[in-house]
Amino acid sequence: MTQDEMKQAVARAAIDYVKGGIIGVGTGSTANYFIDELSKIKGRIDGAVASSEATANRLKGHGIQVLDLNSVGSMDIYVDGADEITRHFHMIKGGGGALTREKIVAACARSFICVADQSKLVDVLGKFPLPIEVIPMARSYVARELVRMGGQPKLREGFTTDNGNVILDVHGLSILDPVALESDINQITGVVTNGLFARRGANVLLLGTENGVQTYNQP
Ligand code: A5P
Repeated sequence: MTQDEMKQAVARAAIDYVKGGIIGVGTGSTANYFIDELSKIKGRIDGAVASSEATANRLKGHGIQVLDLNSVGSMDIYVDGADEITRHFHMIKGGGGALTREKIVAACARSFICVADQSKLVDVLGKFPLPIEVIPMARSYVARELVRMGGQPKLREGFTTDNGNVILDVHGLSILDPVALESDINQITGVVTNGLFARRGANVLLLGTENGVQTYNQP
């Protein structure tokens, strides 16, 4: 099975968790496969909340109604990929730069269904550079603070988030306490949010492997 086939397999498996109502939808290549699968059963749902403009466009392209989060309240599920995930269901996200909206939509969902191929499962987070969304005028200040915390921040060149901000990708972190680091980075003035999803991690991991989809549930 190729990596893309594993992504498609987990996207299909995630459809089992769609019980109607409004679905929170993530961003990225695996989330895109989920949108394609969701379009096949769109008559069974009332609409979707998108975590990025790209996802909103893809949903609309499939004829799925996109709703404003403020008019929705809470949702049963949020389905999204990850750049890294541990067996404790902590994640790094934001490789696509949509981390802030992803975290907001995920916060409104009772269950976070993570769909990922096996390459995303790690013992320790941090090999994938940690994305941090930053208010543009705070870029240098935040970068200096991140260096003090032991990271090597690099500006994502030529990229602006859907919220009009910049992304610093932080290299060189070995994240042994993701819950604490998520909070500590968010305390730096000028940080909008960071790509650690640890305080609110995944509830279910659908992992695409050579032997099919493995399901892990948060205890
Ligand atoms: C988007 O900002 C990210 O959080 C993605 O969810 C994450 O990068 C996974 O993307 P892929 O499914 O493309 O690997």
